[in-house]
Amino acid sequence: MANPNLFFLFLLLVVPLSLLLLLTLILRPRPVKIPIKNRHVFITGGSSGIGLALATQAALQGAKVSILARNLNKLEEAKQSIKLSTGIDVRVFAADVRDFDALKKAIDEAGEIDVLVCNQGVFVPGELETQELEEVKFMLDVNLVGCFHLIKAALPAMKNRRDRRPCSIALMSSQAGQVGIYGYTAYSASKFGLRGLAEALQQEVIGENIHISLIFPPDTETPGFAEENKRRPQLTNIIAASSGTMKANDVAKKALQGIKSGSFIVSCNFEGFLLSVATAGLSPQRSVMMAFIEVVAAGILRIAGLFFQWNWYESIAKWHAKGK
Ligand SMILES: NC(=O)c1ccc[n+]([C@@H]2O[C@H](COP(=O)([O-])OP(=O)(O)OC[C@H]3O[C@@H](n4cnc5c(N)ncnc54)[C@H](OP(=O)(O)O)[C@@H]3O)[C@@H](O)[C@H]2O)c1
Repeated sequence: MANPNLFFLFLLLVVPLSLLLLLTLILRPRPVKIPIKNRHVFITGGSSGIGLALATQAALQGAKVSILARNLNKLEEAKQSIKLSTGIDVRVFAADVRDFDALKKAIDEAGEIDVLVCNQGVFVPGELETQELEEVKFMLDVNLVGCFHLIKAALPAMKNRRDRRPCSIALMSSQAGQVGIYGYTAYSASKFGLRGLAEALQQEVIGENIHISLIFPPDTETPGFAEENKRRPQLTNIIAASSGTMKANDVAKKALQGIKSGSFIVSCNFEGFLLSVATAGLSPQRSVMMAFIEVVAAGILRIAGLFFQWNWYESIAKWHAKGK
């Protein structure tokens, strides 16, 4: 090719097109759609915040919704509020995710589940040195072990379901499950743990047409967040401010859209999208476009990530210099 301009144009077209073609050939698992209309969506932590918003959205989209939490009064209030805003009745189940037998009883009573959303979560921030071990265990038990209990209780019936259409297990992580954040040692550990669970479980259940979604919300305005804020170390606020705050309804819409499109990683805002690309690692990716962005942006996002770390460590150093 004699003309250098033509040669560069050729490269500019052929390299990305070849990459797209290669990705189309190798991406696993394959893209999938998870219908929710007239299907049973079971949401834990559905009496408050993100879970309540998710239950409302799912009901509006025609799903048969069940919600589970510990406090029956709060569940009944949530049921009324969903009925008021959608005209639809949801079923409620009171159980603690830490109690496997009670959970199994509730799940068996609820019947076949098509979409299981493990959304319950507790967050008690604080520096590890001053945090009680009881609080550390509490977060790991509810956020991580609770999800194991849920999946163990629901999976046998999901695998033997009569409706062989694709179904889903969604896990509510957090941006603190993608990057460790000051004041969140136990919470981050519980949410990072969900990623290992999700990546391994996806390989185990793909043969049953069950698809895993891992959702990563930023700070979200919920009753739980309002409580947490009362105890948050100031440095946690400074670092977490790198990603904005969202409304529970907006997070619920993004989460449901991600579940329905079978996305393994579901981010909720623009910063979350960048974080997901930067931390893609070896996680499954069904979307050719997203895989393309991950490959092309890997280097530049690593630099951006290092700038974030620089900024956070500078804030921590200034904090210590002030003697706080
Ligand atoms: N809000 C945020 O800023 C934010 C950001 C990222 C990720 N997240 C995650 O999103 C999820 C929902 O958070 P949220 O802010 O909506 O919380 P929330 O308003 O505090 O609601 C938590 C829900 O979980 C239930 N729950 C708590 N412990 C439970 C247990 N042991 N067994 C069964 N249910 C239990 C609660 O009901 P009972 O108390 O009656 O049991 C409630 O329905 C959590 O996994 C959280 O980690 C939240």
